[in-house]
Amino acid sequence: MTKGKILVTGGAGYIGSHTAVELLNDGYEVIIIDNLSNSNRFIIDRIQKITGKKVFFHQEDLLNFAKVEQIVSAYNNIKGIIHFAAYKAVGESVEKPVLYYENNIVSLLNVLKVMTLFGIPNLVFSSSCTVYGQPDILPVTEEAPIKKALSPYGNTKQIAEEIIADTVYANKNLFSIALRYFNPIGAHESALIGELPLGIPNNLVPFVTQTAYGLREELKIFGNDYNTPDGTAIRDYIHVVDLAKAHIVALNRMISGNNKESFEIFNIGTGNGNSVMEIVNEFKNATGLDIKCNIVGRREGDIEQVWADTSLANMELGWNAKIPLREMLSSAWNWEKAYRADSKQEKEKYNLNLEHFKNLMALGFSNNGFNAEEINFLVNKAKDVGISVANWDEWMKEVSSFTFQIPQNMDEREEYLADLVHLAMVDGKVHQTEYDMCLKLADKLEIDAENLDKIIKLIEKLWKNDA
Ligand code: UFG
Repeated sequence: MTKGKILVTGGAGYIGSHTAVELLNDGYEVIIIDNLSNSNRFIIDRIQKITGKKVFFHQEDLLNFAKVEQIVSAYNNIKGIIHFAAYKAVGESVEKPVLYYENNIVSLLNVLKVMTLFGIPNLVFSSSCTVYGQPDILPVTEEAPIKKALSPYGNTKQIAEEIIADTVYANKNLFSIALRYFNPIGAHESALIGELPLGIPNNLVPFVTQTAYGLREELKIFGNDYNTPDGTAIRDYIHVVDLAKAHIVALNRMISGNNKESFEIFNIGTGNGNSVMEIVNEFKNATGLDIKCNIVGRREGDIEQVWADTSLANMELGWNAKIPLREMLSSAWNWEKAYRADSKQEKEKYNLNLEHFKNLMALGFSNNGFNAEEINFLVNKAKDVGISVANWDEWMKEVSSFTFQIPQNMDEREEYLADLVHLAMVDGKVHQTEYDMCLKLADKLEIDAENLDKIIKLIEKLWKNDA
């Protein structure tokens, strides 16, 4: 007997994946809808690996209401929804406000629509301490006034809370708890899941771990002239697993009817503030590694200091954060190391040998295959990756008269295509001209464009993460 089904939107993301693990451990069945815009399918496998339980995964965009409706209609008796799916980069939201408002607001509206349509009663919503701006009184309580948002991202969280309040007020069968997160960091103790920032990290801890790993030269500390003991800004850092557990407690509270209001709001932090400098020093203590730091100017939009008054969550939810800062940082580091080792292995899989290259070229040569320009490009790339042939002209002649049979096995075919994608990368991306070449081979291998795109995405991501 399970405790019932929970739909987790954005469940392949950083907080979503850790919450899915805790839900499964607590006896729930988990359905995930995620468009993988900021995550990866392997995270779903990892959630299953950690828990030994199956996840019902649907790769879909929450903006597509018809699709979401179709997915939800296939399950009956969903007990609740935890809605994580949203864009979250503060800086990007300033540049692309419409994108942020559309994605974060319309997805919430679609969630509320399916809840009403299918009678799903309970919603846990991912909110943020960003709604407080720079609070006048610290630690900040849930009663503190909501300040004008400093970014469209922050505004989407404020608006979302208002939309939920209005919706549960109007519908007596709906209940919701919004959790205002402080700064989640760290990773699951298995080091199988963790934060996967795309490109250069915006957040402090991923930047610290990438610097420790040698991917970044130095950590820039944004300002040491704040009115704080060491001059650097203060935040309330909370272990992502502690945060994940708060969702389970919130959900259980609504399911067992223990909520006091139809819409409740809780701060989810540790109640402690730490400065940027303290984080860096504690990371050094936890790992024994040195981090090169450089003090630079303040980052626009940053507040000086914030940490949570967590007494309401302690009292009402019976929840409090348990994992100490040192463990938060060592788990973040363990995840960084494990993830890098995995991607290296994955990359090595694509290491091209002469035999593979020969077969690949033979496939490409066959009827209406690669043109002269493409062949030239590929030979040069092969040379770059260290394929050595005594006489390229002779070799090319031999290859062009050699017929390589398309493998029966789909995995093997995908490996050839992955080899080609690997060669087609220029500056970490597959550009249009090279893409057309990949499409030709995909066609011969009977791999559809959608699968080709997935392979490209995966390989581009690996490159980016190693850049
Ligand atoms: N910082 C640096 N160097 C870096 C990155 C960050 O010094 O390279 C500093 C920041 O200036 C800030 C602190 O580290 O003082 C924490 O920065 P983060 O970007 O990790 O976190 P923020 O508190 O700025 O942002 C987080 C979430 C947002 C959310 C915000 C407030 O990432 O989604 O908390 O809730 F809006």
